Order: sequence, then structure tokens, then C-alpha cells
Amino acid sequence: MESRGEHKEQFKFRVRKARAEEIYAVMDINLKTLPENYWYGFYKFIYDNWGEAFLVAEAENGSIIGYAMSRVEHTRDPVLLGLKTELEGDRSVLSKVIDALKSQLAEERPVGHLISIAVLKEYRRRGVGSALLSKTIDVMKNVYKVDAIYLEVRVSNTPAIRLYEKFGFKKARIWRGYYRDGEDAYIMVKRLVD
Ligand SMILES: CC(C)(COP(=O)(O)OP(=O)(O)OC[C@H]1O[C@@H](n2cnc3c(N)ncnc32)[C@H](O)[C@@H]1OP(=O)(O)O)[C@@H](O)C(=O)NCCC(=O)NCCS
Repeated sequence: MESRGEHKEQFKFRVRKARAEEIYAVMDINLKTLPENYWYGFYKFIYDNWGEAFLVAEAENGSIIGYAMSRVEHTRDPVLLGLKTELEGDRSVLSKVIDALKSQLAEERPVGHLISIAVLKEYRRRGVGSALLSKTIDVMKNVYKVDAIYLEVRVSNTPAIRLYEKFGFKKARIWRGYYRDGEDAYIMVKRLVD
């Protein structure tokens, strides 16, 4: 399973499932591009369990220039399932209580959680992030059969928010102080089934 990307300036790369030994290259990109870093065992756990969605972008010269990794979780939360958003104005206490009761009664459903995605700075704006996200959506839908995909993103991270919106993700919740430095996160969700 692989997809090829060609974008501005005829930059050639491909997105494919990572090999286990490429986890180190992924960690390297993560350290260079994001303040949210993880230990090797975390990557390996994600790779071993949801390897089809552990993706790398490889440039024509063979170097790894980006990655995306996701896992599958199970939830009754209608926001993470893309069934409703909390960002459409204030709701009454009663409607919040009704929603809480409904989610208690609902069955758990599988959702994809995009944990991390990044492209090396010098390779950005050439369609690499789009190709990684597109493949993630494809694998989550067709391999892992999830109902929706969700992710957290810093409220200030305009490039990432634009990318996600381009692929139909919607802001659905604000998680106050989600990041270590105190910044809030948007939870963005894309529903994949009717
Ligand atoms: C977010 C990120 C993965 C995007 O990767 P990319 O390869 O540059 O993405 P693409 O070239 O496919 O861009 C797709 C779209 O995203 C949006 N976008 C990307 N970078 C943008 C920027 N700097 N400003 C505004 N919009 C931007 C645009 O809509 C763009 O489409 P366009 O180029 O046709 O206008 C990359 O910026 C990155 O690695 N950032 C650091 C890590 C990070 O923040 N990850 C997300 C954590 S939640």
C-alpha cells in the first residue's frame, strides 16, 4: 500500500507504511518539529498495534521527510465520534444533561486518533502533509473501519488547522490548558460514516 505525491515544483515523494527500524528517523523528525515528544517504547507500541497507519513520507533520494501516526480507540463520546460539536454557542444546562445521558446509553464505537503528524521544515508546502493525512484517512476508514478520526491541535497552529480543515476536519471542542506550556487545544474531528 503506497501512494505517490507530486505537487508544486514537481517535488517527488511517496507515502508508505513505516518499517520498524524507521522509528528512529520518525523520532528525529518529531524532535526537530514539535514540542510534544515521546519515548521509543511509545512509538513501538503504536507501530506494533496500528502499523498500517504508521506512515512515513520518503523523498526520491530515500530520506524520510515526514510521518504520521495514529491509533484506534473506543469511545461513546459524541464529540469524538463527530456526531456533535461543542463549539456552536452556549447550550442550556438541560441539553448538556440530555447529551450526557445519551452518551451513557450509547455503545462504544471505534475512532481513529491522529497522535502526531509532521514534515521537516525544508519540505513543507509541497503536499507532503496532505499526502500523509489523506493516507491516514484512507487506512483508518478501510483498514481499521473507524467511525471518525479526531486529533488535538494547538489553537495557534494555523498551518495544521488549515490542513485539517482542507480535509474536512471540524473544530469540535476546546481543551483548556491541554499542552504543557498551558496552551489550549482544539479537538478536531472528521466523521467517516453516515
Ligand atoms: C502541519 C504540517 C504537517 C503541514 O505539512 P505540509 O507538508 O506543509 O502541508 P501541505 O503542503 O500538504 O499543505 C496543505 C495545506 O495546509 C495548509 N497550510 C500548510 N502550511 C500552511 C501555512 N504555513 N500557513 C497556512 N496554511 C498552511 C494550506 O491550506 C495547504 O494547502 P496549499 O499549500 O494548497 O495552500 C507542517 O506544517 C508541519 O510539520 N508543522 C509542524 C508540525 C505540526 O505542527 N504538526 C501538527 C501538530 S497537531
